[in-house]
Amino acid sequence: MDAEQLRENAHKMVDFIADYYKSLESYPVLSQVQPGYLRELLPDSAPDRPESLQDVLDDIRQKIIPGITHWQSPNYYAYYPSNSSTAGFLGEMLSAAFNIVGFSWVSCPAATELEVIVLDWLAKMLKLPDQFLSSGQGGGVIQGTASESVLVVLLAARDKILRKSGKRSLEKLVVYASDQTHSCMQKACQIAGIYTENLRLLKADQNSNYALTPDAVSEAISSDLSEGLIPFFLCATIGTTSSAAVDPLSALGKISKANDMWFHVDAAYAGSACICPEYNHHLDGVEEADSFGMNAHKWFLTNFDCSALWVKDRSALIQSLSTNPEFLRNKASQEHTVVDFKDWQVPLGRRFRSLKLWMVLRLYGLENLQHYIRNHIKLAEEFEQLVNSDSRFEVVTPRTFSLVCFRLLPQPDHQDDGYKLNYDLLDAVNSSGKIFLSHTVLSGKFVLRFAVGAPLTEETHIKAAWEVLQDQATIILAEI
Ligand SMILES: Cc1ncc(COP(=O)(O)O)c(C=O)c1O
Repeated sequence: MDAEQLRENAHKMVDFIADYYKSLESYPVLSQVQPGYLRELLPDSAPDRPESLQDVLDDIRQKIIPGITHWQSPNYYAYYPSNSSTAGFLGEMLSAAFNIVGFSWVSCPAATELEVIVLDWLAKMLKLPDQFLSSGQGGGVIQGTASESVLVVLLAARDKILRKSGKRSLEKLVVYASDQTHSCMQKACQIAGIYTENLRLLKADQNSNYALTPDAVSEAISSDLSEGLIPFFLCATIGTTSSAAVDPLSALGKISKANDMWFHVDAAYAGSACICPEYNHHLDGVEEADSFGMNAHKWFLTNFDCSALWVKDRSALIQSLSTNPEFLRNKASQEHTVVDFKDWQVPLGRRFRSLKLWMVLRLYGLENLQHYIRNHIKLAEEFEQLVNSDSRFEVVTPRTFSLVCFRLLPQPDHQDDGYKLNYDLLDAVNSSGKIFLSHTVLSGKFVLRFAVGAPLTEETHIKAAWEVLQDQATIILAEI
């Protein structure tokens, strides 16, 4: 590493990136390349001799950017957002600069201590109960993704119950969640050795606005208990992936407690909104939870990856995930005076992710972050009104945060309840390259999801997106 060479090349790279952000809207949002496109453009093997940065940047412009789906485009409305920001970006740069591997306190004290402090700050912004703070038995940790968060708490919960019921009872352990829960719950069960037939994905339909009902959970638990099974884990979601449904935390938490189960709350997307007092009530009942997760890398201006997880009892995580090899022994760890985050996660190595979250919190501050969230929700509300104003469309589920679920109404003679119609509409708008939306299926209906949350999206983009949708709808309806 030559510092002067770094300075020169990094300046070039920053210019390249700033130009990219300036010209973002000139690219098709959804990449229009075909599978395998890059193989034809790049050589079969790595170069023997160094090439120039300029040559690489030229290739990025000509060969890589066409294959990029532009998640930071203001016309991006697919899945859920993955925010980038100046503060998040600078934090990432700094993290790359130090390039520490902070598995234990001694391997980089600042990385560990900053993470503890920043997650306490964020917990306070979300008004999480004090038991989630590091000052008690709990605390927060940054995982790579919400999938890792649910996996590690499932492992902690599994081992906790097995210590009571005996190792041989693994086959009896049952997990409960709704059929709207993110598929990371199923994957966590696969990894944790939970028997496939013991994952209860309980039906949540339009009657509850796709929220998990306490009655469904109680009934399933009673039935499982009568079969001699052991209910041990319940996952609720605040802002489901399909339709941003909100599960009733208080009632579900009480059921968990009554049955001595671990209660996890996944607020990967909508957790960010709960820093605003008017949305914080969605977390009422979180005091019943054993663990709570939200992705700062989704809608909180923190560059991917940064998934915040809090637990009330950190010792449960540590009992499941700690190892103590000779080569990592050190005085601070032996004396139990420090946090060693390697024991709260699956991998050993970990990045200095707290830097970017700290920079986001400091450079923007709570008030700006609240304004940011409110603005997106207002834009989503405007989009919802536009959909409601066109009788050819319907809003499918009531909007709670910044996601609007809607569809083109089926024609009276349609056999498939408008499935193909809406599939074709989605395909047409995404192929146009002007906007990018994704879809879900709710009660058999093919539904388009319009998720506002890209940092650069403004009112003009919403209006333009609606025009694209209306125009494509007109073309498709005329062709029927
Ligand atoms: C509610 C919810 N949970 C979990 C996830 C998975 O997130 P990750 O990619 O961080 O594992 C998502 C992704 O969109 C989500 O919406």
